[in-house]
Amino acid sequence: MVAEHTPDVPIAAAPIAAAPIVVASNRGPVSYKLREDGSLVAGRGGGGLVSGLSEIGRDPEGAAAVWVCAALGAGDREAAGRAGRRLAAADTGGLQVRMLDIAPETFAAAYNGVANSVLWFVHHMLWQTPLEPSFDAGFRAEWAAYEAYNTAFADAIAEEAAEGASVLVQDYHLTLVPGLLRERRPDLRIGHFSHTPWAPPDYYRLLPDDVAAQVLRGVLGGDRAAFLTRRWAEAFAACCTSTLGAETVREDGVVTAVRFEGRTTRLGVHGLGADADFLRERAHRPDVEERLAALRERIGPGRRTIVRVDRTELSKNIVRGLRAYRRLLQDHPQWHGRVVHIAFAYPSRQDLAVYRHYMAEVGRLAREINAEFGTDDWEPVALHLEDDFPRSLAAYRLADVALVNPIRDGMNLVAKEVPVVSDHGCVLVLSREAGAAAELGDEALTINPYDIEATARALHLALLMDPGERAERTKRLAAAATALPPGRWFAAQLAALVP
Ligand code: F6P
Repeated sequence: MVAEHTPDVPIAAAPIAAAPIVVASNRGPVSYKLREDGSLVAGRGGGGLVSGLSEIGRDPEGAAAVWVCAALGAGDREAAGRAGRRLAAADTGGLQVRMLDIAPETFAAAYNGVANSVLWFVHHMLWQTPLEPSFDAGFRAEWAAYEAYNTAFADAIAEEAAEGASVLVQDYHLTLVPGLLRERRPDLRIGHFSHTPWAPPDYYRLLPDDVAAQVLRGVLGGDRAAFLTRRWAEAFAACCTSTLGAETVREDGVVTAVRFEGRTTRLGVHGLGADADFLRERAHRPDVEERLAALRERIGPGRRTIVRVDRTELSKNIVRGLRAYRRLLQDHPQWHGRVVHIAFAYPSRQDLAVYRHYMAEVGRLAREINAEFGTDDWEPVALHLEDDFPRSLAAYRLADVALVNPIRDGMNLVAKEVPVVSDHGCVLVLSREAGAAAELGDEALTINPYDIEATARALHLALLMDPGERAERTKRLAAAATALPPGRWFAAQLAALVP
């Protein structure tokens, strides 16, 4: 979600003080576009970290926190260059942000080559193993870039953090940072948070041995490593044992820490929830109402809706979702003319050919289904490929069924957001491989995401569900989905960093 605004004050270096809290992530809370006249337009991002950190920023007693992130494109680089050390607070909604201008080739190799093509693939188990992965000399060059990129973050954090500060390092882009930072600043409290799943040991071992070990050692350099569900924490601990021979500590059967080379890294779980206050208010603004009317018009009167909203990542399983919908229409002609699959598949990581091909396949299949079943007044699949947050909220509101069927997912916030804003109750068809299934599985219809037949059956059952049961389930889903809203999720991680 991005709220565009034009900076009304020139970008200038803010006063610099070392911070007691530092957050580090690849993508920051603001991004810039460079206009032809040389001016910059800032767009602010949303998400759990932004809300969490903004809450600390608003606390008058709370000391300033700094967010360290990477410049992602030309606009960001320009802004980072003009800013000096930190960006102007007017652009960032008051947050202190340091944007790192890492050399474009180094950034591309680290982000596209390693983070998105290797680490993302291993944790989501995406390789077609007869042919891939192949770790060759090209990979080694990319790995060296990943090390350099992580080192740039560690250096910047070491510079920004006050004595004894708490540092929260985010995700698979920055796995080496905790270890590198400990070498530079042993006084800091360092936590790492994984927003993705963690691969099970047998799959993790596809990585070259030294790389597999280096990633684990990097994360274990922190005081604490945290995950979105218990399942991913267990997988991480199992990889530490199998790859490094580390010892795991358990309490009441649950893994709580990893001991390795004389140090203990505590493990934690924080299941990020939906931000109900924000979503409910945002979902009733005029721009959402407008889109709701347009969607209703497009769907046609009296038809049910199966809604999905995803960034088009390979792990989201949009193609199998469409195949399951086609199966539903083949098996149950009663739905012809009576249901529309609203599929929002927004672009993601388009620098990678495999993502572009996947997106093209989504479009091709949607057209095929429409050609096979569509009539003059019924379009079975309404596909949108351009990101539009208010339109997503409109679809959440009118969904009769939400299809969330990822191959694997750290959490999946769509599964949590739909029940919160649904107007009349919505049945959730949910992959058992999404982290969200741990919290929502009892009230959802859970599926094996590879099983097209089972997914089609679940869609059929979902469409048939009695409105009373649907509304009751939606209430319970919404309660579970909002158990740990972003502000509290963030605060819990910070609190847990202090032993
Ligand atoms: O959807 C959330 C997420 O999967 C996070 O794990 C990760 O930090 C982020 O996406 C990365 O996405 P991008 O490549 O678009 O920055």
